[in-house]
Amino acid sequence: MPGFASSTRDLPMSGVIPKHIAVIMDGNGRWAKQRHLPRFAGHKKGVETVRDVVKGCLERGVSYLTLFAFSSENWRRPEEEVSLLMQLFVRALQHEVKKLRKNGVRLHVVGDLSRFDAQLQKLIAEAEEQTAENDALHLTIAANYGGRWDILQAANRMMQASPEKAGHWTEADLEPHLCMSFAPEPDLFIRTGGEQRISNFLLWQLAYTELYFTETLWPEFDEAALATAIASYGQRERRFGRTSEQLAETSSALNSAGTHA
Ligand code: IPE
Ligand code: IPE
Ligand code: MG
Repeated sequence: MPGFASSTRDLPMSGVIPKHIAVIMDGNGRWAKQRHLPRFAGHKKGVETVRDVVKGCLERGVSYLTLFAFSSENWRRPEEEVSLLMQLFVRALQHEVKKLRKNGVRLHVVGDLSRFDAQLQKLIAEAEEQTAENDALHLTIAANYGGRWDILQAANRMMQASPEKAGHWTEADLEPHLCMSFAPEPDLFIRTGGEQRISNFLLWQLAYTELYFTETLWPEFDEAALATAIASYGQRERRFGRTSEQLAETSSALNSAGTHA
C-alpha cells in the first residue's frame, strides 16, 4: 500500500480544511452532573453529538474523522458505567450502520477488540463489512484503544515481519503496522471538556497535529463549534520544522509555477 505523507519524513500538503480530524470526546459526565442526571445520560446525549459532527464533516469535505470512545484506561471506571457504555456501543452499531452506509461513511473500529464480548466483536466486524465500499468519510471509533498499546503491537508485528532488519528498523517499517495505517496523520486534534491532555490517544500519529482545546462539553459540541475549531485550524501556520520565511518562498514558487503552467 502506498504510504501517506509522513510529518517527519515528508512535507505534507495542508489546506484550510483538515483532511483528518481526531477528537477526544470529553465532558459527558460533567454535562449530566450539571443537570442532576446520571452520568449515563451524558453518554447518551454524546451519541447525538457524534451524529452532528459526522454530518458536519461530510458537509465540509473532511475525509477522516477519528473519535476516542473508550480508552484502555476507561476499564478503571465503575463496573456499571463500563457495562452501560458497552450497551450504548452495541445499540449505536445496531441502529446507525444503515444510515452510515447510505451516507457514504465507511466505519472502522480500532483498538484491542479482543477484550470485548463476542456479540460486540461480531457487530463491529459486520458494520465494517457493510460500509466497506464507502469512501466519502472514513469514521474511525477508537475503542479499548491506547497509544502505547498501538505502538507496541505495531513494533511486535514489525519485528516478526522483518527480523532480518533488527537494529535497522525505520519509521517507514513501523507505520504500516499501526492501527491507523489506512489514514493520513491527523491534521487537527480536538479535545472538548476543558482538559488539556492527550490521555494515551494517538501518540505516534499526533506528532505534528495542530491541537485545539475547548471548554465546551462534548454533548454541547455542535456544528457551529466544529466550524470554529476548523476555522482556528485554517489560521495555523504548519511549519513542520521550517521557518516562516521558507514557507513564504515555497508558496511563492508554487504560485509562479501555477501562473506559467
Ligand atoms: C467522555 O466523557 C466519555 C468517555 C470517556 C467514555 P467523560 O465520561 O470522561 O466525562 P467527564 O470527563 O467525566 O465529564
Ligand atoms: C479520554 O477521556 C478517553 C475518551 C474520551 C474515550 P477521559 O475522560 O477518560 O480522560 P482522562 O482519564 O480524564 O484523561
Ligand atoms: Mg472525562
